Amino acid sequence: MWRPPERIAYKTNPGPWPSAAEAAASRLFSPIAIGPLTLRQRTWVPAMVPWRATEDGFVSDAVIDWYRRFAHGRPGAMVVEATGIRDVPSGPLLRIGHDRFLPGLKSLTEAVREASGGETKLFIQIIDFLAIRRRPERDKYFDRFLQITDRHRDALGLGDAPEEAVRAALKALHDEALAEVLTPREREALTMGYRERVTDTHLPHIRDLPQALPGLFADAARRAREAGFDGVELHYAHAYTMASFLSALNTRRDGYGGPRENRARLPLAVYAAVRAAVGDDFVVGCRYLSEDCLAGGNTVADACYFGVEFARAGMDFLSLSRGGKFEDAGQPKVGEAAYPYTGRSGYECMPSYISDAFGPFGRNLEPAARIRAAIRQAGHDTPIVAAGGIHGFAQAESILREGQADIVGFARQALADPDWFLKVRGGFGAEVRLCRYSNYCEALDQKHKPVTCELWDREALDAPGVKRTADGKRRLTAPAWEPPA
Ligand SMILES: Cc1cc2nc3c(=O)[nH]c(=O)nc-3n(C[C@H](O)[C@H](O)[C@H](O)COP(=O)(O)O)c2cc1C
Ligand code: SF4
Repeated sequence: MWRPPERIAYKTNPGPWPSAAEAAASRLFSPIAIGPLTLRQRTWVPAMVPWRATEDGFVSDAVIDWYRRFAHGRPGAMVVEATGIRDVPSGPLLRIGHDRFLPGLKSLTEAVREASGGETKLFIQIIDFLAIRRRPERDKYFDRFLQITDRHRDALGLGDAPEEAVRAALKALHDEALAEVLTPREREALTMGYRERVTDTHLPHIRDLPQALPGLFADAARRAREAGFDGVELHYAHAYTMASFLSALNTRRDGYGGPRENRARLPLAVYAAVRAAVGDDFVVGCRYLSEDCLAGGNTVADACYFGVEFARAGMDFLSLSRGGKFEDAGQPKVGEAAYPYTGRSGYECMPSYISDAFGPFGRNLEPAARIRAAIRQAGHDTPIVAAGGIHGFAQAESILREGQADIVGFARQALADPDWFLKVRGGFGAEVRLCRYSNYCEALDQKHKPVTCELWDREALDAPGVKRTADGKRRLTAPAWEPPA
C-alpha cells in the first residue's frame, strides 16, 4: 500500500473515556431520526467485506457469526458488506441478485436482531462493479489476449503477415518499443490487467448501463426489504460503477457524463427506481465520496453539489468516504488483479498509522463538515455519516458538537473491538481494544482472505466453540466480552 513519504508513525490516543452517566448524557449515545426510523445512538459500523460468503455468494454460517459478533456490541446501525446486485458469478462476494439469496439474508437479519436485542438497525450496501481481470503473464497476453489490429501491423511494418507473426513480433519487443506500438489501454491490460470503464461506450453492456442499473438496484432493494433489513445503502463510493459515473473523470457523451448535472443523472435515476420499489417507509441512503483524491477527479465542491441533489431527491442518509480508486492503484503481481486501495487515493480511504503531518485520524472530517453545511444551507436535514480513523469517545463527541457529521462511523475500530459501543456506553471505555490502524485486516481483504484483526485473531485459539480459518491459525471472530457483574 502507498504511504505518505513523511512516514510519521502515530499511536492511537482515544483521550478520556466517559463514565456511564456521562455517556448517557452524550450526543453520541442519543437517538437520531433517519428517514422513517430512529437510531438509538449515533454510532454506525460502515460496510466491511469479511470474505466469508460461499463461493456462489450465499450467506454462510461464518457470515452470520461475523455480524452477530458486531451486533453484540449494539451499535446504532450497521451496514452489511458490499453485496452484488447482479445474478452473475462473483466469487465469494455476498450477492442479492436473485430471490434464491433471500433465505440466507433473512437468517442474517434475524441473527442481528436477536443478538442486539433489536437495538441495532441493519442496512445492506448494494453494489454494481465492472469487469476487471488479473494481470496476465506477458507471453499469454501476446499469444491469446491481445486483439491484433491494423494499428499493430502498420507500426511493425507487417502489413499482410499472418496473425501469429504479428504476435511473435510483439512478444519480441522490449518495453520501450512496445510503448510505441500498443495503445495506452493495451499497455494497461498488459501491465495491470484489463479493466472496464464506464466510458467504454463502444461496448453495448457499458453503453446500456443507464437503462440496466435502475432496475437491478431496485430489485436488489426490494429483496433487502423482504429479507428484513431496515434499509439499503446504495454504493456510490470508491472504484465501482456508480462512483465512476459521478466522477469528474466520466466523459461519457450520452448525457450521463461531462457536467455535474449529467454525472448525477444515473445515480438519481437509480435512487428514484429504488424508492419506487421499496416505498417511503424503508430507509434508502447512499455512500459516496467527499473527494476522489485523484488528479482531475471529484473535489469537495462536486461532493457538495451531489449531496444537495441526493438530499433534495429524498435520500434518508448520506455516508461519506473518500478515495479508494483504481486510477492510482499500484501494479499487481502477475496473476493478481489491481486493488483500488493501493495508491494515494486508497490511503485516503483507509489511512494507516504511518502518515503525514495531518495523521490518520479524521482526514475526512473537514470535507464532511463542508458538505453537511452545503446541504443544510440548501434547507435539508439529511443525516451525514462520517468515518475514517475515529476511535475515541471525545473525538466522536466533538465531531457531533462541531457539526462535522450527525452520525459517527467506526469501521476498523469496530473490527478491533466490536464491543466498543457497549463498553463506552457502560463506562468501561478503559477496556476497549484500540485499533492500531496497522491495516493487517485490509491486507487480508486485498488477498480475498477471511478478514480478522491482528489484536485478537491468535487469542485463546483452543477455547471451546472458537471457530478458525481453514488453516486453523486464526480465530474468525473477536473473543467474547461481558460487562463486569
Ligand atoms: C476489511 C475492510 C473491508 C471494507 N469493505 C468495504 C465495503 O464493502 N464497502 C465500503 O463502502 N467500504 C469498505 N471498507 C471501508 C470502510 O467502510 C471505512 O470507510 C474505512 O475503513 C475507513 O474507516 P475506519 O478508519 O473507521 O476504518 C472496508 C474497510 C476494511 C478495513
Ligand atoms: S488489523 Fe486490527 S488493529 Fe490493524 S487496522 Fe485492522 S482492525 Fe485495526
